[in-house]
Amino acid sequence: MDDKEKSKKLSSNNSDTNGEFESSLRPKKFTQVIGRKKEKKNLQIMIEAACRRNEALDHILFYGPPGLGKTTLANVVANELGVDILVTSGPALERQGDLASILTNLPKRGVLFIDEIHRLNSSVEEIMYPAMEDKAIDIVIGKGPSARTLRLDLEDFTLVGATTRIGLVSSPLRNRFGACMRLDFYSPAELKEMVFQKARILKTDIEDDAAYEIGKRSRGTARIAIRHLKRVRDYAQVTNIRRIDLKVVDKVLRMHDIDDAGLDDVDRKILKLVIEDFVGGPVGISTIAAALSEEVSTIADVYEPFLIQEGFIKRTSRGRVVTPKAYKQLGIDYEETAKQQDLI
Ligand SMILES: Nc1ncnc2c1ncn2[C@@H]1O[C@H](COP(=O)(O)OP(=O)(O)OP(=O)(O)O)[C@@H](O)[C@H]1O
Ligand SMILES: [Mg+2]
Repeated sequence: MDDKEKSKKLSSNNSDTNGEFESSLRPKKFTQVIGRKKEKKNLQIMIEAACRRNEALDHILFYGPPGLGKTTLANVVANELGVDILVTSGPALERQGDLASILTNLPKRGVLFIDEIHRLNSSVEEIMYPAMEDKAIDIVIGKGPSARTLRLDLEDFTLVGATTRIGLVSSPLRNRFGACMRLDFYSPAELKEMVFQKARILKTDIEDDAAYEIGKRSRGTARIAIRHLKRVRDYAQVTNIRRIDLKVVDKVLRMHDIDDAGLDDVDRKILKLVIEDFVGGPVGISTIAAALSEEVSTIADVYEPFLIQEGFIKRTSRGRVVTPKAYKQLGIDYEETAKQQDLI
């Protein structure tokens, strides 16, 4: 692997496309991580025990929808351990050799973070098993009857995996993690606290109820709360507003088509499609994706989990069904529509 290739497959900090700006908003220590009480406590115990035994931390898998803190926690864990973190992702590791060269170059007790770990191909995954279990990799030299297997010992290391699709992580891989942590959506109150934290970093003044409103309209997602805060801050800046209040937040979020429940344009399109074109469902997720020209994985990972959690959509064995709550949110009369659709 040449140097250019290597830097594409691996970065020693984090994989944010927004670079330094994003990383300044990202917590570095447990004390800066908002919410996630249970996960923090369990991780702190694991870290302390590993440190006392002078061992690497056991492997950890974080899973959950995008923007809920998987990358953040991976970085915090490495920081709290006081070790380097090497960052790569499932699709970047195309060949066994890619992973082998990363593993053999890891510092003692270092953290290897593999994002989108469900996208590791099976041949790469195969050498991950002994690496995780026995701290060794088996390399096949030569071909045919003269092929030999060479076992290379590795330094003690910690694999931190992240995925939005736990169902696509094979069970042999999943079973080799010492802890699997599911990251749920944040509550509006936690997101409010996050808005305050990021507003302080961005040197932005915001009122209590305005921060809560952003939290309430952020689909339970940290990244969305940050995005909303940035847009509101832009507006305040160009209109010379010194302190952001509820009215400003409402105005800006409306300008960006975010409704009072935090649903965006695509959320509403999904609900509307199921109501108007599929008589409220049931309809398969691939049909929804095709009708909206979106990837199935985008609907499944990004949109559906929140719509289900908030009770706008129900998952049934025959497909997705919208609930009366969805009709209400879109201002569509449930009874009237049902009557009309019965007549068709
Ligand atoms: N508990 C938290 N406390 C403070 N900030 C948080 C917390 N969780 C997430 N954030 C912020 O939200 C942003 C998005 O989080 P992060 O990048 O860790 O999400 P992710 O789960 O890795 O998403 P993806 O699946 O898209 O990679 C981060 O920049 C971070 O600043
Ligand atoms: Mg991430």
